[in-house]
Amino acid sequence: MSDTTFHRHRRLRRTQGIRKMVRETFLRKEDLIYPIFVVEGENIKKEVPSMPDVYHVSLDNLTEEMNRLEQHGVLSVIVFGVPGHKDQNGSEAYAEEGIVQKAIRHIKETNPALTVIADTCLCQYTDHGHCGIIEDGVILNDPSLHVLTDTAISQADAGADIIAPSNMMDGFTAAIRKGLDEAGHKDIPIMSYSVKFSSAFYGPFRDAAHSTPSFGDRKTYQMDPPNRLEALREAKSDVEEGADFLIVKPALSYLDIVREVKDETGMPVVAYNVSGEYSMIKSAAQNGWVDEKEVVMEKLTSMKRAGADLIVTYFAVDAAKWIDEEE
Ligand code: PBG
Repeated sequence: MSDTTFHRHRRLRRTQGIRKMVRETFLRKEDLIYPIFVVEGENIKKEVPSMPDVYHVSLDNLTEEMNRLEQHGVLSVIVFGVPGHKDQNGSEAYAEEGIVQKAIRHIKETNPALTVIADTCLCQYTDHGHCGIIEDGVILNDPSLHVLTDTAISQADAGADIIAPSNMMDGFTAAIRKGLDEAGHKDIPIMSYSVKFSSAFYGPFRDAAHSTPSFGDRKTYQMDPPNRLEALREAKSDVEEGADFLIVKPALSYLDIVREVKDETGMPVVAYNVSGEYSMIKSAAQNGWVDEKEVVMEKLTSMKRAGADLIVTYFAVDAAKWIDEEE
């Protein structure tokens, strides 16, 4: 006789075979985007102190890194530049011979099958470390849009497949879309950091990108973490302005936002698994406190379950290896 008083959910968990049959969410290698930090100079492969196994690499070491991605089946990379020179307006961000422009051309030449995404921001390039143009200590919205648009165009000119503006000025998606179109880049998509919270989880990245603001913080342009409705408004205006993908960042503490942005917009959604989220797991794993592979696969799969189509993660190559091991 069958039980009528309760359900036997455990039937579907009895063997690994059955568990696999009813699995609802899958992490694929195609979902992973690997961030890379490119620096001026030669023969550099230097570990970022607060991010074990993440490196600054110079152009001459870039191909080796890109080959490693391709070997493991990671299809896309997001490029961050660490320039040799910073100034008030971040002019290296849009220079034809800027570090990111050189890196993009390099990758497209040696590894043309990789999809190259350019992070479009100014904070690594300005001497004050803010993501926009400054006057009397105030971050100006509209003048920053011109510089960002020039940056995006120079990245597309260099061969970037996707432009990813991360600076959080209002109207950046519309301005960049217009600029790209006018410059003959109508077919280059924008992966907008549409929901970017002002987060303490970016700490290690600022170490890696040398982009800590020299005064104040980013709270007048990045979003306030408690706000959910505002996140949806940001996402919707980016869709109206012409974004092709929407990034939610950080990922782990914001999976509710990932789900809502996905459900509300139906757009391709990207979760950015940020530096602090990476380094916390890394350090716990190095101490033997958590199993790195199990924890990473669980959290990346959770991002997919929350509705992310793609994930930017410093664990991309490891995760690709682990996906192979499972198969
Ligand atoms: C630049 C930018 C940041 C990150 C990506 N692009 C840092 C910031 O806003 O301070 C963070 C990435 C990470 O923490 O992994 N605007």
